[in-house]
Amino acid sequence: IYPIVATTRVSILGLVKPYHLVKPVSVTILPERSSHHQDNLPKLPVPPLRQTFERYLLMLEPLLSEEELDHTRKLVKEFLIPGGVGDRLQRSLERRASNKGNWLTEWWMQSAYLDSRMPVAVYSSPGVALPRMTFQDRQGQMRFAAKLIAGVLDFKKMIDSETLPIEYLGGKPLCMDQYYQILSSCRIPGPKRDTVVNHAVGKVAPTHITVVHNFQFFVLDVYNSDGSPLTVDQIYMQLEKVWNSSLQSNKEPIGILTSQHRNTWGKAYNNLIKDKTNKESVRAIQKSIFTVCLDAPMPQMSEQRYQSRVAAQMLHGGGSRWNSGNRWFDKTLQFIVGEDGTCGLVYEHAPAEGPPIVFLVDHVVEYMMEVVRTPMTPLPMPPKLRFNITPEVKKDIESAKQNMNIMSHDLDVNVVFFSDYGRNVPRAHKLSPDAFIQMALQLAYFRMYKMCCSTYESASLRMFALGRTDTIRSCSNESLNFVQAMEDPAKPNAEKVFLLDKACQAHREYTHMAIHGQAIDRHLLGLKLQAIEELTSMPEIFMDTAYAVAEHFHLSTSQAGAKTDCVMCFGPMVPDGYGVCYNPMTDHINIAITAFNSCEETHAANFGRGVKKALRDMRSLLEETANAKQ
Ligand code: COA
Repeated sequence: IYPIVATTRVSILGLVKPYHLVKPVSVTILPERSSHHQDNLPKLPVPPLRQTFERYLLMLEPLLSEEELDHTRKLVKEFLIPGGVGDRLQRSLERRASNKGNWLTEWWMQSAYLDSRMPVAVYSSPGVALPRMTFQDRQGQMRFAAKLIAGVLDFKKMIDSETLPIEYLGGKPLCMDQYYQILSSCRIPGPKRDTVVNHAVGKVAPTHITVVHNFQFFVLDVYNSDGSPLTVDQIYMQLEKVWNSSLQSNKEPIGILTSQHRNTWGKAYNNLIKDKTNKESVRAIQKSIFTVCLDAPMPQMSEQRYQSRVAAQMLHGGGSRWNSGNRWFDKTLQFIVGEDGTCGLVYEHAPAEGPPIVFLVDHVVEYMMEVVRTPMTPLPMPPKLRFNITPEVKKDIESAKQNMNIMSHDLDVNVVFFSDYGRNVPRAHKLSPDAFIQMALQLAYFRMYKMCCSTYESASLRMFALGRTDTIRSCSNESLNFVQAMEDPAKPNAEKVFLLDKACQAHREYTHMAIHGQAIDRHLLGLKLQAIEELTSMPEIFMDTAYAVAEHFHLSTSQAGAKTDCVMCFGPMVPDGYGVCYNPMTDHINIAITAFNSCEETHAANFGRGVKKALRDMRSLLEETANAKQ
């Protein structure tokens, strides 16, 4: 167990800001191989049918009119007629659950990720923005990248030996499978559905990473012939060679092809790999353990805008003039180190959620503090990957550049460093920090739009074998009562506090239910997919407007808590919505908000200001009420 409670200035990394290593994490190193642990995890249950629909109707109450609700109640009643369609689909789902390790995972992976035809950049892949580093030149960039690569290889040792510390949530051990999916893997575009290949499970595990600089890809073998990982100094020397042989910046940004709509990329991909050299180069990227993008400096920004700009750079690279071609967006893990001190990562979401990624980041950051110098042995030049750019490939690149520029212009990103307080304040008032932040998001939204909205918060299902996520519905009758009271000057503070407490309690209860496999969203999805498999027509319940309203998440949110003072970010789920990801530290909260510029109703910075105000007002409310009682 290592509860890390310290605030350290990490001079070796050259960080401007101190890293706050404050989040106590309980981890136990199991002596047995973790496959034993995996085998003992419970299976994801199928929730009872009637329970899901009672909760579905309850969840709809703050979102619909009484008339709309009545209509949906009738449809639910029909669906639940004993021996009817609902019962039949439920039985099929239960059968599926008894035949599979996890009834949901494959379906989820396909429907949420691999079937989606939207570009992975912005629309699916989350980014992580790390604090700005002090280096401003190529030596600093390379030194930092070398330490980072060594840190990831150090983490990989735990994956290879299956000695990763088992994580816990609510006292229960979690499925560790996602950690085994994030290295040496890559998404591959298909005409209708993509796939993910994991080369770590093949006969010969890859020993190289790919490094991309000035849009040129290199294979960097990161293990010596005796199997030992290269040292930081060795990696540094190799990166120098890569840098020196990729000085020309007039190369075609081949990687930008991966940012396209998936059907377009699927076609361009087949076209690209017709050529044998191209095929081999693509395969080397796909097989590599991970990718490191050595980015060109981005335009100077005010300090206030800097972190928002970094978050955008992680999500899309800044457009074709900047670093969007310095990526292979299909690659599961890409670390990004800019010459101007910018750093972070972007990851392809299909194989894993944020928590394993931030755990890896935390490990790497800790590792980088302890790096020691080692003697040097000469190594051969890392080979450059060659691409033959036919006129057709060139045309595909031009079209990808245009689309990327539209996409990057359209994404509105605002990172808020809320420094007034962090988890400490809600905890002192005996409130769940996560629920408290969610209520602040509800309040900010209500103040801006005079209504509440369907809200998604990711809940981990990793208590179950191969578990991914379900949805916490943060918008509830209780949250609506609270935000309405906050906007009502006639309501006494004591009542507002009472309603805040109730809203947080309701949120906690939903969270508890979700992480124990009893939430409604994945069950509804399962019933719908089962209906597609075995019925001739879709049950009306899924054709109902209420279902569309429930699924249109104007607020798509997630907590991605890390020990490192970073922030994860992702794009909105719907064209007129917000993506909100937050890292609640002990005494401050990092929040990344995204929206689309093409939507007139949304504005990331305005929403960010609203969230700050909501957090401040909620604290004042609690403190004024507590003082009044004394
Ligand atoms: N009073 C005082 N403390 C409280 C409290 C209360 N009423 N309620 C909770 N706390 C404490 C908790 O015990 C916890 O303490 P710990 O850190 O020492 O364990 C801490 O406050 C944080 O709890 P809370 O804020 O309620 O959130 P959580 O840590 O339980 O996380 C979720 C909630 C939903 C984020 C988590 O369950 C989850 O599912 N995480 C995964 C999210 C995910 O997959 N994201 C994907 C990103 S792509």
